[in-house]
Amino acid sequence: MDIQLTEEQRQVRDLCREFAQKELAPNARRWDADHVFPREAVRQLAEMGLMGVAIPPEWGGAGMDNVAYAIAMEEISAGCAGTGVIMSVNNSLYCDPLLKYGTDAQKKEFLVPFAKGERLGCFALTEPMSGSDAAEMRTVAARRGDEYVLDGSKNFITNGPQADVLLVFAMTDKAKKHKGISAFLVPSDAKGFTRGKPDEKVGIRASGSCSVFFEGCAIPARFRLGEEGDGFKIAMATLDGGRIGVAGQALGIARAAFDEARAYAKERKAFGQVISSFQAIQFMLADMATEIDAARLLVWRAATLKDRGVRHSAESAMAKLYASEMSERVTSKAIQIHGGYGYVKEYDVERHWRDSRITEIYEGTSEIQRIVISAAVLKD
Ligand code: CAA
Repeated sequence: MDIQLTEEQRQVRDLCREFAQKELAPNARRWDADHVFPREAVRQLAEMGLMGVAIPPEWGGAGMDNVAYAIAMEEISAGCAGTGVIMSVNNSLYCDPLLKYGTDAQKKEFLVPFAKGERLGCFALTEPMSGSDAAEMRTVAARRGDEYVLDGSKNFITNGPQADVLLVFAMTDKAKKHKGISAFLVPSDAKGFTRGKPDEKVGIRASGSCSVFFEGCAIPARFRLGEEGDGFKIAMATLDGGRIGVAGQALGIARAAFDEARAYAKERKAFGQVISSFQAIQFMLADMATEIDAARLLVWRAATLKDRGVRHSAESAMAKLYASEMSERVTSKAIQIHGGYGYVKEYDVERHWRDSRITEIYEGTSEIQRIVISAAVLKD
């Protein structure tokens, strides 16, 4: 793996950093407080090619690699983690499986406008009674002639309130368990589709999530992605990529908190000296910086493997596990360095801490990542 960035990757980093610092960071506190979806920022991300970073230009994307995508996720999330997840769901959980499993006709209709950022996609796997045990889903899709009819519900669907199309996983043959799951593209204007009100979340409040409902929701059979029964593998392989995006997001949140804690430590005085002169603070900053760099290397390794077309389930799980737990530790230390000021909304570190928490939960909890990693290490 090359840890020297290419010219293109450096350009993406600089472009995203400038955009995040100019357009996202100054607004992030307000979007968080008011639970505002940053529509204009998402439009600007689309203009920069960031809604389909690793999708080839012929399918509407920017045609960059997954390392560039991970770098973009870090930078955008350092500015606003809610905006980061809007971008990651569209890139990793919607466009990527369309590119991999879609027919040309599906790509034309369901990938191009989404990779261009003209429309927004989402991924509907989780249900009220099935999360980590994704194969236990109850949503069904019954074939009726040239249609599938979906019945059931999904919840915690990131981008759900705004999505134009949902990639939905449903049982087409319950008896076959996970081999009876299939994937479908459901336009949000399909009859029988409704959404609940947006969830009131602890963090990443610029992004919306909600429950979605399918009641006799009929879609053309040509909207099935992949073959009948391929759905579970599509979901799992998609999450291998998605976890790189979440790890990049966790990294960006941690870095923002670190930068703020370092700046504060260099200004704030206690006992007649700046607090950065105390070893207690220096050691915290040293640990934070080391953990951030370690996480970045794991993220870039997983992204490099994805670019090489190599199975990267364990490496993505390691990147997400380490980066998300690191992010929670680093943001918590950033609060500690700020003392009482870290616990009030005048400073951003409390938001970073709240934002970091979800990265240990969505796209597979830390416990699920440990299952994936331990399965790989015990195989040898
Ligand atoms: N790639 C390809 N195939 C895979 C795979 C992968 N990464 N992982 C598993 N498979 C295949 C297996 O090879 C196996 O195939 P066969 O049946 O042919 O042998 C099949 O899938 C079943 O595998 P397992 O027996 O390992 O499946 P399991 O039921 O034990 O589940 C699990 C494994 C890791 C626990 C899985 O259920 C899992 O990842 N759960 C977490 C789900 C999750 O991450 N949900 C997040 C929701 S999305 C979200 O959060 C989006 C958002 O809003 C931001």
